[in-house]
Amino acid sequence: MTKLLVTGAEGQLGRSLRRIFDNEPQLAVTYIDIDRLDLTDKSAVDTFFDNARYDIVINCAAYTAVDLAEKNEVACSHINTDAVKNIAEAARRHQTKVIHISTDYVFNGKNFMPYAENDVPDPQSIYGRTKLEGEAVLKAYCPQSIIIRTSWLYSEWGNNFMKTMCRLGDEKHEIGVVCDQIGTPTYAHDLAAAIYSIITAEQWHPGIFHFSNEGVASWYDFAVAIMHHARKDCRVNPITTKEYPTDARRPHYSVLSKAKIKTTYGLTIPHWEESLRKCINNYLQL
Ligand SMILES: NC(=O)c1ccc[n+]([C@@H]2O[C@H](COP(=O)([O-])OP(=O)(O)OC[C@H]3O[C@@H](n4cnc5c(N)ncnc54)[C@H](OP(=O)(O)O)[C@@H]3O)[C@@H](O)[C@H]2O)c1
Repeated sequence: MTKLLVTGAEGQLGRSLRRIFDNEPQLAVTYIDIDRLDLTDKSAVDTFFDNARYDIVINCAAYTAVDLAEKNEVACSHINTDAVKNIAEAARRHQTKVIHISTDYVFNGKNFMPYAENDVPDPQSIYGRTKLEGEAVLKAYCPQSIIIRTSWLYSEWGNNFMKTMCRLGDEKHEIGVVCDQIGTPTYAHDLAAAIYSIITAEQWHPGIFHFSNEGVASWYDFAVAIMHHARKDCRVNPITTKEYPTDARRPHYSVLSKAKIKTTYGLTIPHWEESLRKCINNYLQL
């Protein structure tokens, strides 16, 4: 029996993990979110870890409001960096393995080919910087950890681009969506399945891994596909980042290379549009 702790369990990835883990009787999983344990509270985290033993903690908790983070640096840093340090210190004391999730926004977006794990990060936003600092603190305390950087996460739950587009598709006949930010959407269910492969693999391979769905898209491409698969009668017009200013700067290009995670864990990753269709079908129960 493998004992798992999932933090941020009410978020998109946490709920996607639960959907997979609930069918796996060999896993004993504890799910927690901020209502049960505020991860920024060091003594509460210490007490929590002292009271139970886990083989692996999967940290899905984060401050994910990328634009709000620009005005709330302290809160963002508490969750994306200090809370990771609290988990890492407790995990080191109890020899608990850690899987932590990070982001494509650690890169500056000036690449023209998919980012590999050893490419040099250069975050352009508070969110990206605090996530990178979270990675660093975890590597320092628990060098045997696994860090998975992912991008453009969406699911049936929470706030995400897919759900926003579905709503706008009902409310508007026409919208503009940026076409000069290129990346890859990631269905949280596929990331959860990859995490399942990692925890059930024969060997634990520490280090950083990149994971997204296969393929490349702009937010415009993503929006067009959402309207199509959700059967919304809403025209999507391509606009530039300059025409849609946001508080946080986002990378123009943040496609992640999945070569390392595919080779290490023998994963086959679905194309983003195939996964989008599945998620929309689940969400709208088409
Ligand atoms: N969403 C994306 O597009 C995206 C892209 C790349 C990487 N990622 C990374 O992927 C991971 C999962 O993202 P997600 O979209 O599933 O996140 P999410 O839906 O925002 O869920 C995060 C969860 O963490 C909880 N949380 C926040 N502060 C906490 C605290 N102090 N103590 C305990 N729990 C706390 C949140 O609770 P509240 O809701 O009450 O705050 C929420 O339930 C994160 O590490 C994120 O940085 C996400």
